[in-house]
Amino acid sequence: VVLQPAPAVTYHIIGGILDFYVFLGNNPEQVVQEYLELIGRPFLPSYWSLGFQLSRRDYGGIEGLTSVVNRTRAIKIPYDVQYSDIDYMEEKKDFTYDKEHFKGLDQFAEELHSKGQRYIIILNPGISKNMSYGPYENGSRKRIWVSGATGPVIGKVWPGPSVFPDYTNPEGTQWWIDELVKFHEELNFDGIWMDMNEVADFLNNESLCEHNELNYPRFVPKILDRKLFAQTLCMDTEQHWGLHYDVHSLYGYSMAIATAKAMENIFPKKRSFILTRSTFAGSGKFAAHWLGDNEASWNDLQWSIPGILEFNLFGIPMVGANICGFALNTSEELCRRWMQLGAFYPLSRNHNGPGLMDQDPAAFGRNSVLLNSAIHYLNIRYNLLPYLYTLFFRAHFRGDTVARPLVHE
Ligand SMILES: *[C@@H]1O[C@H](CO)[C@@H](O)[C@H](O)[C@H]1NC(C)=O
Ligand SMILES: *[C@@H]1O[C@H](CO)[C@@H](O)[C@H](O)[C@H]1NC(C)=O
Ligand SMILES: *[C@@H]1O[C@H](CO)[C@@H](O)[C@H](O)[C@H]1NC(C)=O
Ligand SMILES: *[C@@H]1O[C@H](CO)[C@@H](O)[C@H](O)[C@H]1NC(C)=O
Ligand SMILES: *[C@@H]1O[C@H](CO)[C@@H](O)[C@H](O)[C@H]1NC(C)=O
Repeated sequence: VVLQPAPAVTYHIIGGILDFYVFLGNNPEQVVQEYLELIGRPFLPSYWSLGFQLSRRDYGGIEGLTSVVNRTRAIKIPYDVQYSDIDYMEEKKDFTYDKEHFKGLDQFAEELHSKGQRYIIILNPGISKNMSYGPYENGSRKRIWVSGATGPVIGKVWPGPSVFPDYTNPEGTQWWIDELVKFHEELNFDGIWMDMNEVADFLNNESLCEHNELNYPRFVPKILDRKLFAQTLCMDTEQHWGLHYDVHSLYGYSMAIATAKAMENIFPKKRSFILTRSTFAGSGKFAAHWLGDNEASWNDLQWSIPGILEFNLFGIPMVGANICGFALNTSEELCRRWMQLGAFYPLSRNHNGPGLMDQDPAAFGRNSVLLNSAIHYLNIRYNLLPYLYTLFFRAHFRGDTVARPLVHE
């Protein structure tokens, strides 16, 4: 897409489906309001989800997880939500938890609830292709995996060889609802964090996709490896809504819709929380978004600001970046500044990658400058929460932005 000085916009396209709408508001806020009237206005977040959230990959089992929760509480940092990344799972399989390293995770969730806190777990779309794994057996019986000419697509993601549910298929949605409802009886989570739903596949092998016009169109945009199927499914695979070629960008969107339906089943008449990495126009009606795997760098701290402002234009105002950075070890100064900035993100979540130094505020020590500063700024956030909640109400009710650039004022 090329912006011309004329002024004009030029699209160089290779095919697919394009729908054009033009919104003519009198000011930027009105343009966003009109756009959101078409695609769906954002969900109203539960009040608790506006609190400070803590997450990391590889807590080191239930002991590590509990000790971080304990030290964060002991230091009296405002803190409402705890996450678990894929390390809680057994062999990284959805709808399981590691009964050895995370023994008593069900009680851990109840203990959080007893302190008025909430618990969010990660789920990925990739389902382990394992004959003795219930979700795989049940989904295979219902034939809900995305399939090509030779049967279900077999990719490779966290649990190893995996299949991918077609959330655009009503049967696929029902299967997802059933599995979530059943797993919730085992582990009392309050929200779902969905990752890898672009949909991502670790395999990236030429020989996996047939030579045809869909997988190898004559012109290919400047994307990874110049392949439309790079680290995702072959374009000629089929889904209920159409060819993957046409509906690829809707994978995360359809997963958000299916997950929202599951949450309505689990929490009738209550709001829960869905956080998604992949989004499309309209995803904000169902899910919040974080800006993906950033790194602990000043550059990524800076870029989180335009990222958040942009997602407000896209109708996904419940958005934030991983505070203190996901990849690379953070530093005291960077993390301190990021906690200060992140206290004013619509979605305020500190999240860290595997094998890296701890970056939860309490890890820096009881009398650290970082900790005192984090508590100071989070208290300002919590004092302002009624106003933030009002902004989200206006976003939900009439399509306003929550975080907006000055030009909107
Ligand atoms: C966390 O605190 C609880 C009680 O507040 C205690 O029972 C538990 O042993 C602590 N766990 C760790 C790992 O510090
Ligand atoms: C299949 O699942 C079973 C039960 O969880 C596990 O013991 C086994 O290692 C898995 N097999 C593969 C190939 O992943
Ligand atoms: C999946 O199928 C098994 C029987 O093979 C059944 O026990 C289980 O409840 C099913 N799971 C769901 C979520 O329906
Ligand atoms: C790609 O797949 C072919 C056939 O399955 C296999 O022989 C080859 O080693 C694979 N290449 C890579 C880079 O994984
Ligand atoms: C980050 O720090 C940890 C320990 O503090 C260390 O083990 C690890 O190697 C470091 N990783 C990187 C990428 O610097």
